[in-house]
Amino acid sequence: MKQKQLALSKIGMEFPTANGTFCALKDVDLTIDKGEFVSIIGHSGCGKSTVLNLVAGLHKATSGGVLLNGREVNEPGPERAVVFQNHSLMPWMSCYQNVELAVKQVFKGNKSRKEMKQWIEYNLELVHMTDAMHKRPDEISGGMKQRVGIARALAMEHKCC
Ligand SMILES: Nc1ncnc2c1ncn2[C@@H]1O[C@H](COP(=O)(O)OP(=O)(O)O)[C@@H](O)[C@H]1O
Ligand SMILES: [Mg+2]
Repeated sequence: MKQKQLALSKIGMEFPTANGTFCALKDVDLTIDKGEFVSIIGHSGCGKSTVLNLVAGLHKATSGGVLLNGREVNEPGPERAVVFQNHSLMPWMSCYQNVELAVKQVFKGNKSRKEMKQWIEYNLELVHMTDAMHKRPDEISGGMKQRVGIARALAMEHKCC
């Protein structure tokens, strides 16, 4: 097995529902090498988000496992950042503070306050949000919210992988 890769091995995901168990995924295998770009395409409800939630560590698979560089992952981690479909920004925080929240979580103790500020501003600049970085989510458009989510995911870049 190559060292730098994400591997889903024989993933099964069953959800308990009022009408019994619902099987959302069965025997899903997927291997993505470092640097490889992969699109998961399928009809609505086929299980794309469920796969991504498993990779993000937000769900635990009913069977099979998710391996990152050979190690099983069962919880969220900065090396598997997600841009959420519904943006998931804290509504009472500015765009800057939303990115800062994630950056502090990942880099506390490793980056100085000044470095963190520069890193947050750099990532907001990448998505052209410099002018609006002190606005709150309800003061910006849907596309701008998504761009803040992208900046947040990029800003969590971890050096371990
Ligand atoms: N928490 C849940 N409880 C029960 N069923 C779920 C849950 N999450 C997803 N599902 C079901 O699993 C299937 C796959 O959902 P999802 O991964 O969100 O699809 P996609 O992202 O491809 O549109 C759908 O039929 C959905 O209704
Ligand atoms: Mg989806």
